Amino acid sequence: MKEHNRAKRKLDGLLRSHSCGELTKELVGQTVTLCGWNNKYRDLGGLHFIDIRDKFGLTQLAFDEYQGDLAILKELSLESVIKITGKVRQRPESAINKNMLTGEVEVSVQEFEILSKANEPPFLPHGKVQATEDLRLKYRYLDLRSEKLQNILSIRSNAMKAFRTTLYDHGFTEVETPILYKTTPEGARDYIVPSRVHPGKFYALPQSPQTLKQLLMIGNTDKYFQICKCFRDEDLRADRQPEFSQVDIEVSFASQDYIKNLITDIVKNLFELPSDFEVPVMSYQDAMKIYGTDKPDARFGLEHRIVTPLFKGSGFKVFESVIEEGLNKSIFVPAKFKEFSRKEVDSFVEIVKPHGGKGVAWFKVVDGNISGGISKFVTEDILKKLQVLHNTTEDGTYLFCADTKASVAHSSADALRRHLGNELNLIKKDDYKFLWVNDFPLLEYDDEDARFYACHHPFTMPKNDELDNFMNGDSDRLKSMPAEAYDLVCNGYEMGGGSLRIFQEDVQKKMFETLGMGEDEVKEKFGFFVEALSYGTPPHAGFAFGFDRTVMLLAQTDNIRDVISFPKTNAATDLMAHAPSNVEAEQLKELSLKVEK
Ligand code: AMO
Repeated sequence: MKEHNRAKRKLDGLLRSHSCGELTKELVGQTVTLCGWNNKYRDLGGLHFIDIRDKFGLTQLAFDEYQGDLAILKELSLESVIKITGKVRQRPESAINKNMLTGEVEVSVQEFEILSKANEPPFLPHGKVQATEDLRLKYRYLDLRSEKLQNILSIRSNAMKAFRTTLYDHGFTEVETPILYKTTPEGARDYIVPSRVHPGKFYALPQSPQTLKQLLMIGNTDKYFQICKCFRDEDLRADRQPEFSQVDIEVSFASQDYIKNLITDIVKNLFELPSDFEVPVMSYQDAMKIYGTDKPDARFGLEHRIVTPLFKGSGFKVFESVIEEGLNKSIFVPAKFKEFSRKEVDSFVEIVKPHGGKGVAWFKVVDGNISGGISKFVTEDILKKLQVLHNTTEDGTYLFCADTKASVAHSSADALRRHLGNELNLIKKDDYKFLWVNDFPLLEYDDEDARFYACHHPFTMPKNDELDNFMNGDSDRLKSMPAEAYDLVCNGYEMGGGSLRIFQEDVQKKMFETLGMGEDEVKEKFGFFVEALSYGTPPHAGFAFGFDRTVMLLAQTDNIRDVISFPKTNAATDLMAHAPSNVEAEQLKELSLKVEK
């Protein structure tokens, strides 16, 4: 996937005959024309060289046979754009550069032209870029010249092609849906656009085309896909942007198996995996138990075990206080991975603190004997039980995250596991471990707001055998009801997610009611959609890949801004164009808007 998309067909009309990355020994003796940036100039005791650079690579230009004025070379600023014509010649043996695609040859320049002089740039985009991320974002077009970002743009483009090819092969129709639309809830705030023609009214930009793709199923589209932009006003992180792309998919008459088979086939093509590649399945419940998260990084072990009841009567107050209500999880680190100093284990509290954790308890097994930390509360019997749970009798360190809130114990143990995975170098960076996580909860109850929220989105079907219970609406049952919802997880990222959809009008109405929406609100926001369900709706299911996250995985970067041509900062701003920006008073007036500061 790393190769740039090189032209397979050539047309006359470019200013160059070759790119700066394609001259080899075979072309020695040929006259070529190259265009590109002045990457580096050298004067080696009267012998002048320039490295010319474009998207495809670098070529060394030699000026020993050049008849023109050499003084302009010295003054030529780096990053100026030049055009040269000359003869390809073999480099002397001692000057061959094996690290360069074109390292065996150079071009002896005959004609030289400056196409565009550059001012001194705020940073040089090649080699190791020495600039803060803010400066690089301000001059994004300069940063884009770098090999790293051009590589990623190529990976992104090739990924788009692989998605399209696979989906076309499976009989999908690519359909565009509107951007100026109505709220499509996915759990974030909407970006809204005021209407000039209808004062006081607003369009909402889609958080995803969820309702639209379902309407396409009602409209006989059968198998739909789209590579689309989604807009969500939410807190941003290293893997989240306010405007991002999805490969959005919906299929009529599909079961969860069909969607899983399809997604497996796509992943196989994207990541160039062997033909017998399968995605293992894990329930949400198991993922939480074993990893404390619904998006586990399965590239390494250090699995969690639930040890809450083991410490009953142990005398250790912290552990005993979570037995009635709460959770205690253990992680075992074999001594062969690391023998921690006391200072090191004590520092783990900093890892769990941001997740609400108050500490990490521990003890060691050294030569089969218990020592350190909470060892005085650990009986032989408790150790035996821990060893059975962790399936080991090895020496090592047992670490514990306990809290009266299960969610805090889960996320603390998750953070600790990920920290240890990195610190102990247990993660092979170029490995991909996919997981299909299913049976997600349908609803989440918020104690503060005293209401249910949809875990995926309000169009997700309750698990098939729970449908009657859902329609009966018993609140306790609703709190633990599973959904026909699934995620594709890779290396700790949620790569995509989807569900079987509610296709019955009464079930959809019940869902809105369960989410606390009154009849009027449902009518105003989703009346058209509920009505559409009443005119003959095929059962349907779908999925959406987070396209940017998929490219992050392919490009092996953990910064989403690396994979987007013109990304926004974590404060949702564009540092280059200064967006968002003020608008003219006249424009506000036309839109019947007033800004209150
Ligand atoms: P969901 O909300 O899970 O599902 O989104 C699907 C995938 O989109 C990616 N994603 C994001 N990527 C970057 N920045 C963001 N702010 C962001 N938010 C989400 C994730 C996620 O898995 N309509 C449903 C899909 C369906 O049910 O078919 C939906 O949008 O990788």
